[in-house]
Amino acid sequence: MRNRIRRGKTFLKSSLLCFLTILLGTMVLPKAKAQVKPVDAEGHEWWQHAVFYEIYPRSFADSNNDGVGDLNGIASKLDYLKNLGVDAVWITPCYPSPQVDFGYDVSDYENIDPMYGTLADFERLASEAHKRNIRIIMDFVMNHTSDQHPWFKESRSSRDNPKRDWYIWRDGKGPGQPPNNWESTFGGSAWQFDPTTGQYYYHYFYKQQPDLNWRNPAVEKAMFGVTRWWYQRGVAGFRLDAVDTLFEDPDLHNNPILPGKNQYGDPNMANVYNTKLPELHGVLQRLRKVADEYDAVLIGETWTKNIAELKQYYGEDNNELQMPMDFLFTKVDKLSPDEFRKQIAGVNAAGWPVYVLSNHDIVRAYVRYGDGVHNDAIAKVMAGLYLTLRGTPIMYYGEEIGMTNNDPKRRQDVKDPIGKLGWPKDKGRDGERTPMQWNTSENAGFSETKPWLPVPASYKTHNVETELKNPDSILNFYKRVLALRHDDAALRDGDYVALNKNDHNVLSYLRRYKDEAVLVALNMSSSKQQVSFDLRAQGIKANMASTLLTTMKTNQEKAALRSITLAPFSVYIGKIEE
Ligand code: GLC
Repeated sequence: MRNRIRRGKTFLKSSLLCFLTILLGTMVLPKAKAQVKPVDAEGHEWWQHAVFYEIYPRSFADSNNDGVGDLNGIASKLDYLKNLGVDAVWITPCYPSPQVDFGYDVSDYENIDPMYGTLADFERLASEAHKRNIRIIMDFVMNHTSDQHPWFKESRSSRDNPKRDWYIWRDGKGPGQPPNNWESTFGGSAWQFDPTTGQYYYHYFYKQQPDLNWRNPAVEKAMFGVTRWWYQRGVAGFRLDAVDTLFEDPDLHNNPILPGKNQYGDPNMANVYNTKLPELHGVLQRLRKVADEYDAVLIGETWTKNIAELKQYYGEDNNELQMPMDFLFTKVDKLSPDEFRKQIAGVNAAGWPVYVLSNHDIVRAYVRYGDGVHNDAIAKVMAGLYLTLRGTPIMYYGEEIGMTNNDPKRRQDVKDPIGKLGWPKDKGRDGERTPMQWNTSENAGFSETKPWLPVPASYKTHNVETELKNPDSILNFYKRVLALRHDDAALRDGDYVALNKNDHNVLSYLRRYKDEAVLVALNMSSSKQQVSFDLRAQGIKANMASTLLTTMKTNQEKAALRSITLAPFSVYIGKIEE
């Protein structure tokens, strides 16, 4: 996670259980090979037609009322997800973990943390999801383990332990002096002295998250084995955590220091020697080969500075990640048609785009784009944008009901360690991780107990139950736009053609597929806009569109392309009549 966008038993018993689990898995789960075939004549694959939905399991649904969400909770909401129009869920880490980084510190890659349930619960969830044609994507924390992982415990036990070289150990430069100047992205030095063996280990994130040594082939073998283990349990792919930090310069050159200090009070630094090293692409290519054996998809947490960097993650022959996330899109942190146009053109040229508006590390879109007055209308404009673009969208849970950030008000309430360290400049990520708002009952229907994070007051109005009843709700807009996306070939597969490129208020484009074309016009301004489209340059003579979906009350079945009036912060989607 980088560059965050902020507003600121007995053997017999366990073998039997294991055998039964595998048997159950093979009986009820789809054969991995059968999962993915091109889904159309153009050779698109399932993940290109799918809508993904990120679930932060601690916060989605709490089935056992302990204040923390769980897998059975997710299973109980599969019908909701299906009706919403979701085809795949990415579940952030639910493996055994000391929870220092809320699951991103894994102590066993091939199990489920008891706080979230059991492997049997996972198998049930996967099988119920499969019945509904929803695929499961797991999170693969590749860069580091927990310091409580047995590999690290062995590694730190002695200098000649066989696992010593599974992590990055170095001598200090002198007493009390770390090996070089590299900083942890979570504050302080990236080196931690370990008195047992008198050396430092490297951690890009918290000190409880030691980095694995990906130069060691044994590490690669073990970690690739983890992915096979899950593929064999019906998992359809992985979201790869922190991919750009896998490798470090073996000679440990100091990073250049930049002017100023970061939110933790550390000098700013260009991480040229410990991020985005070229070696990581070899790992991704080999990992892709394993994924291809199972027809699985790899999604990347790919923080890139520009499109050229993003392009590299697809691989020269599209042999790395099918779905590197385009975080540059989230960096367009304002309703700017010009900037969105630029970003969309860039990623379209790079490969198959993967759009996100926010996630468990990024302040919710509802507040980032909202002006405090028209937030609901703006939430629909943003949905109208990224759910109608060419590419695959990854939604973040709660976005579809307009969930807001609920940042802690006092330092003592902060759960995310970086919020404690960075307070008050950086309040951490609790605000974007609050419980899903299901209804108006206490704790928003998430749990009957006080949840691990407090629900924002907005749950009274912004919750699933209330919004389902209101035809104009954000939720019903999401449902309609997702249904349209699934039905309409132009919205699914069509080319993206930017229109009216000089309009600074309205973002308009066509999605063109064979002889079909769909027009999308998004008024990103707070005033009424009159737009006119001349599509002759596109070889289209038509002058009418039939309305497919709009947020405007004065809904007409047809619109004359020479003059469409768009209400403030509104969406118009229409089929061009040829
Ligand atoms: C990724 C995750 C973030 C986590 C970090 C360390 O950026 O998205 O939540 O803290 O990796 O694993």
